[in-house]
Amino acid sequence: MSARGHAFGIDIGGSGVKGAEVDLTTGLLTHDRLKIATPQPSTPAAVAAAVAELVAQAGWTGPVGITMPCVVLDGIARTAANIDQDWIGTDARALFSAALGGREVTVLNDADAAGLAEDRYGNARDLVGLTLLLTFGTGIGSALLYSGVLVPNSELGHLEIDGADAEDLAAASVKDNEGLDYAQWAQRVSRVLSRIEDLFWPKVIIAGGGISRDHAQWIPLLTNRTPVIPAVLKNTAGIVGAAMAIEAGIAP
Ligand code: BGC
Repeated sequence: MSARGHAFGIDIGGSGVKGAEVDLTTGLLTHDRLKIATPQPSTPAAVAAAVAELVAQAGWTGPVGITMPCVVLDGIARTAANIDQDWIGTDARALFSAALGGREVTVLNDADAAGLAEDRYGNARDLVGLTLLLTFGTGIGSALLYSGVLVPNSELGHLEIDGADAEDLAAASVKDNEGLDYAQWAQRVSRVLSRIEDLFWPKVIIAGGGISRDHAQWIPLLTNRTPVIPAVLKNTAGIVGAAMAIEAGIAP
């Protein structure tokens, strides 16, 4: 099936491969998302087989957009976070395309996909200028968009702050692992956001990732300068952004 104005997105993470058909006029999934546990080990061949199984389950026959927790350049994964290190150097686009019978595929970074989706369907959708989306999860993902145009692979979660990776200071997983309360964690996040905004000067920062559901408990505690708003799309952002990328021919 492949309806007009609809596209298929898949979001590959450390624990699940999730996908659905997306209505791009609304940014909504047309059915419950399908999910297959990420194979362990999450080697390229095993994940490609899971992607093919998910697309077959959905009965989708058209092109597919796919996100990964990787820097992706010309279809090739250049880093690998929470996924098998064998991905580094793998031509992910060619691999997925072959697993899907040679159909058209695009592959992009997971946070970049979430940024595309928030930028079109979220609360900052009419904003002209620079928007930054940060996803707080196991690590920190980032997406920079200038008036709707993605600047891919920004990787601001790895900005060095006080001698450490930003994500090692302020990812949501760090809050859990170090037993920080929201006030303590918000201080860390503020430090990261202050550093980023001094370098990039976005007009708005969108906070995504699972912890954005609890935004009322921590966004009001932030002390950085730029307005921070919670993401709207929650756990569908990667799928929707992947579908947007294949529709728009975005191939970082
Ligand atoms: C990776 C990014 C990814 C983010 C969220 C970071 O550790 O470097 O590429 O977007 O985690 O998965």
